[in-house]
Amino acid sequence: MKKNACVIMAAGKGTRMKSNVSKLLHQVAGKAIIDYTIDLAIEMKLDKIVLVLGHQREEIQAHLQHQYADLSFDFAYQHEQLGTAHAVSCAEPFLKDFDGNVWILSGDVPALTSEILKSFEASLDPKTIVAVAGMYLEDPKSYGRLLFDDQNQLYAIREAKDCTAEQSLTKTVNAGLYRADAKVLFEALRSFDRKNAQGEYYLTDLVEYASQRKIPTQAWVCKGEWAASLEGVNDRYDLWLAQQRITSRINKKAMLSGVTLAQPDQTYIEASVKFGQDIKIESSVSLIGHCQIGSHVLIEQGCRLEDTIVEDGAVVHAYTVAVKSKIGAKSQIGPFARLREGTVLEENVKIGNFVETKKVHMQKGAKASHLSYLGDAKIGTGTNIGAGVITCNYDGFDKFHTEIGNDVFVGSDCQLVAPVKIADGAIIAAGTTVTKEVPANALTLSRSPQLNKEEWAIQFKAKKKNKRT
Ligand code: UD1
Ligand code: MG
Repeated sequence: MKKNACVIMAAGKGTRMKSNVSKLLHQVAGKAIIDYTIDLAIEMKLDKIVLVLGHQREEIQAHLQHQYADLSFDFAYQHEQLGTAHAVSCAEPFLKDFDGNVWILSGDVPALTSEILKSFEASLDPKTIVAVAGMYLEDPKSYGRLLFDDQNQLYAIREAKDCTAEQSLTKTVNAGLYRADAKVLFEALRSFDRKNAQGEYYLTDLVEYASQRKIPTQAWVCKGEWAASLEGVNDRYDLWLAQQRITSRINKKAMLSGVTLAQPDQTYIEASVKFGQDIKIESSVSLIGHCQIGSHVLIEQGCRLEDTIVEDGAVVHAYTVAVKSKIGAKSQIGPFARLREGTVLEENVKIGNFVETKKVHMQKGAKASHLSYLGDAKIGTGTNIGAGVITCNYDGFDKFHTEIGNDVFVGSDCQLVAPVKIADGAIIAAGTTVTKEVPANALTLSRSPQLNKEEWAIQFKAKKKNKRT
């Protein structure tokens, strides 16, 4: 078996993105564009990966070093972008004595899959030395045209700008994905010139080079969805097309694994999300990062969950937002709840509308049904937090903790001024400001006594009416 290496061309400028950020670092379905190609190269178990960088090289390299801490690829640097052939020749020093095939990929084709690569490879004759992947497109755009002779043998790739009017009608175009024998490839590259419409060293000249020397050359052409998956990202419209393609694959996989998506085209799920079974997800839901959704979970319309665990049987009602949180089994959250980082809800917890939580641990069966802010707190089993309760956890400088025991009843509109503790079984009367520790089973209230002035309202209203007439 021949060895396999890979050169990833990623030095181009990406001007059409109209962005200060490198095109390759723009995100598609939660992942940088370049990472798709790198992951694919890794999946192919290649003997060597050389990445050719140029524009915004430091930025891309820093991203990759962070993202792939324990992986080793070689970085080649293309100082000046003189064309695709020049880009590949920049990788030559890293493949000097390499005896085998070199795959050439572009760093900006995120929808390409290993399934497509394997089909391409499987189609190749064992004698093939230079192989090119093509796509049949109704609109061939500015892609290089694949030119075939009478025997249906590929003899050249002509860039759109160099084509005759007749050649430009060709709908079979170059996908920019190649496999070539290393020795033939690098020898060929040394002989190329820049005599073409763009004044660049064209990698595509490899085909004419091979054809003239009777070096076995083969084209593999695909259509439809696969052809579309081979299209690169040049601008933000392409970015959206790639995102749609990738998202619909993720959604399909989720559906086939037992998740009902009410409106798949309006559901955004990132590839890292894990699902149980019998899950129902309504429309306009986003599941971002490392979410884990247990079985028999319902996520209603408009929820956004990021790095959040939802355990079996929980219901996340409409328009809930959660980040780095855990929602326990059979819990009921929302509608309109906000769970911030560090929220841990055990089994059967209820969080109602307009409740915000942050670094809160609510034990089994605890409830906060309406309009609360609960931050830096532990809330015991079966405890009820009334409407409008606020943990005052911040004095403008530091954060303080609130500890509430089991089976506590906190009445509506209480302020719990942290640091403070409320022991098991206590009842806090509505409107109380708790500043001191509450002992177990106590009643705590801090209200000014109520004053009723009988008939006062009648006299008051009469006075006001007289003034107006
Ligand atoms: C290239 C092909 C074209 C093909 C198309 C497929 C050539 C001459 N043409 O055209 O036949 O249909 O890809 O997408 O190869 N790059 C570098 N350094 C350079 C130039 C490019 O690293 O000096 C990288 C780019 O970052 C990109 C890839 O090579 O990842 C393709 O370059 P691009 O400029 O998009 O080539 P096209 O003109 O689209
Ligand atoms: Mg391109």
